[in-house]
Amino acid sequence: MHVLITGGTGFVMSVLARELLTSGAADRLTLLDQTAPDPAVVGFIANTDAVNFDVVDVRDSEHVYRRIHDARPDVVVHGATVTQVPEWERSDPTRYVDVNVLGTSHVLDAARRTDSVRRVLYISSAAVYGSGNCVPGPLSEDAPTRPDEMYGVSKVAAEMVAQRFAALYGLDIPVVRFTMVFGPMERPTSGRAQMSLPFHLAASRVTNTSLEVSERTLRAGGDWISAVDVARALRMLCTDTESCAGTYHLASGERTDVPDLIRAFGASVTTSASSTVDMDPDKKFGKHAIYSIARARGRLGWQPRPLAEQVAEYLSWAAANSKFFHALN
Ligand SMILES: NC(=O)c1ccc[n+]([C@@H]2O[C@H](COP(=O)([O-])OP(=O)(O)OC[C@H]3O[C@@H](n4cnc5c(N)ncnc54)[C@H](O)[C@@H]3O)[C@@H](O)[C@H]2O)c1
Repeated sequence: MHVLITGGTGFVMSVLARELLTSGAADRLTLLDQTAPDPAVVGFIANTDAVNFDVVDVRDSEHVYRRIHDARPDVVVHGATVTQVPEWERSDPTRYVDVNVLGTSHVLDAARRTDSVRRVLYISSAAVYGSGNCVPGPLSEDAPTRPDEMYGVSKVAAEMVAQRFAALYGLDIPVVRFTMVFGPMERPTSGRAQMSLPFHLAASRVTNTSLEVSERTLRAGGDWISAVDVARALRMLCTDTESCAGTYHLASGERTDVPDLIRAFGASVTTSASSTVDMDPDKKFGKHAIYSIARARGRLGWQPRPLAEQVAEYLSWAAANSKFFHALN
């Protein structure tokens, strides 16, 4: 199977690339990204003989079409995105529409005009739920979307564009919403500037320094999942032989309190009023909720591993790649 992944040199998509190759699900990959692969990605994916890296901006419709048409993939995973950064949203809100909505339309249009493509996975986000209704318990995959930032707005719009392409051209386009992802290969990219709390905890372990967080962060919690578990579910969605249409959550499905997360990482943490590592404990709904994973579990038979196992794997990757954290910290 040949899989073309947009945003393929970024964090989660590079973990998917490795999963597809190491599992044997794909024998060929095209990684399309506006950023050329850095040594970290090349080292992580390892079997780069099977990979074609393609520097393409998804805003360039003609270039996207030519590359997808020439590559003739079986499956396309569309993960290229610009994520929520308040300064980016304020200074250039149109970029979210250009990259996340128009870029999605370009990728889908190229896919439907290329007769080799049997499925497109659209990678979305829990940001579609915005601040949300005060619904207790895990949020269902069919909960109403109420985005409250340009990133979430653009993800909802792109999901609707994807649904329309599916209806118009009979394409199989599962929509996959991730919660807060952590794990190997998380680093700043042209699409993302804010690192997760687990990234900071891993950096503190590897660099042997204490992490400063705001005091209220210690009263917060959330639904974290490793990119490795996410990639396993995405691989299942790539290889499934039946239609996979529908919306999936890839999440743990459970709340983890920040003190428990800190313990799992074995990190040393202090509090500081000026710390930029800050979570608001009152934000518990919508994009800050816990998510039902019933559809991924029922339809794919997917189940995330226990958090302790996910964290241990990440820490062992972090220890083996400590230079990476020293350079980024
Ligand atoms: N990391 C998370 O916690 C999380 C949570 C929810 C959803 N997601 C989704 O997962 C996907 C991957 O996100 P990530 O966290 O790995 O982010 P990332 O920034 O590491 O990856 C995004 C990639 O898109 C590329 N990109 C940005 N603009 C582009 C453009 N114009 N043309 C081509 N490529 C472009 C970037 O260079 C980057 O490599 C995204 O669709 C994101 O919305 C991630």
